[in-house]
Amino acid sequence: MRVREWDPAIASAAELTAWLRAYNDALAADLPDDPPWGIDRLREYLTVTMPGERRLTWLAEDSGVLGYGRLLMLGGLGVLELYVVPSARRAGIGRTLLRTMANRALSEGFTSLGVEVIGGTSAAEFYPAFGFNHVYTEMRSILQLTTVDWTHVRHMAEGVVTGYRVDYHPNDLPDEILASYAEAKQVRRLDLPGDLDLRPSSYDAERLRTSLRCLRERGLEPYIVVAMHERTGRVAGLTELVVPAQHPARADQYDTTIVREHDGYGLARAIKARMLLELRVARPYLREVQTWHAVERAQLQQVNKELGFRPDREWLEYEVDAGDLAERLA
Ligand SMILES: CC(C)(COP(=O)(O)OP(=O)(O)OC[C@H]1O[C@@H](n2cnc3c(N)ncnc32)[C@H](O)[C@@H]1OP(=O)(O)O)[C@@H](O)C(=O)NCCC(=O)NCCS
Repeated sequence: MRVREWDPAIASAAELTAWLRAYNDALAADLPDDPPWGIDRLREYLTVTMPGERRLTWLAEDSGVLGYGRLLMLGGLGVLELYVVPSARRAGIGRTLLRTMANRALSEGFTSLGVEVIGGTSAAEFYPAFGFNHVYTEMRSILQLTTVDWTHVRHMAEGVVTGYRVDYHPNDLPDEILASYAEAKQVRRLDLPGDLDLRPSSYDAERLRTSLRCLRERGLEPYIVVAMHERTGRVAGLTELVVPAQHPARADQYDTTIVREHDGYGLARAIKARMLLELRVARPYLREVQTWHAVERAQLQQVNKELGFRPDREWLEYEVDAGDLAERLA
């Protein structure tokens, strides 16, 4: 087995296919109900980052890909992703890849490393074995669109109280609401201490525009529904969802946020329901939506339950000091 740095931007089609096979092998073993990924826009998915961020990848190989590690360097945090194919596990490959990433992160000046771990998989045993600390838990819930009560969802979407309007924005946001939208995201963010923020978020207008472009370049098509406060013309609430080209039958829910002064008017219900109605038309082949939410966000969980989301499993975030990790693995 050898480990080498790999650049998906210039990789051959055969290498990308080999990566995809390894990824889908891990997926089939650990998350058997998740749809396998396809090759469509895979290179872009693996390559494109937000300005100022970098992503490095290593492959562990013999005759095929046995595992891979990715290190995303954003702000002051290095975010790890690491999978080993099921048939090659417990042979030290994960440890070797982790050591490679820890050393590189240190030499790049990163002192803190974070990772998102899927509950109930071997990763939940692996990272604590190397001193990672559990810092945050989210629940993933999944909605099967075949089970949706569309009459009820229509009713939910229509429940918009006087003074508000709900707008649908596929692919991008109009210039005139950008600043207010970014502010709405920023305000609520302060409410969620502890979240490592491993998924992309953007809190100023310029960065928001860039973030949306970056998503599209990676093959992640964004869909947005906003609740507008009509008197002030400001964004009162928003919900964001992405349909990835790599698994277009399952969409990923991103942020849902209601600005605090607009809490209590049923806006989350209305915008999330409207999103489903729009997707049904825009994406007729979509089968499922997955969403992640802090375990304590009871209000949002209630809305998700009403829409038909079912809790699936926990997503755990772990952190470690890069120096401690490199020392432990030396
Ligand atoms: C976590 C993962 C990377 C570990 O890779 P690996 O090559 O098997 O790990 P290593 O052989 O280097 O194991 C190192 C240590 O981690 C711990 N460990 C790893 N897997 C473990 C398990 N299943 N149970 C208990 N401890 C485990 C052990 O302490 C092990 O040392 P030991 O074998 O000497 O006891 C691998 O299991 C994996 O890819 N899991 C993916 C889980 C996932 O998120 N799947 C979704 C895919 S899309």
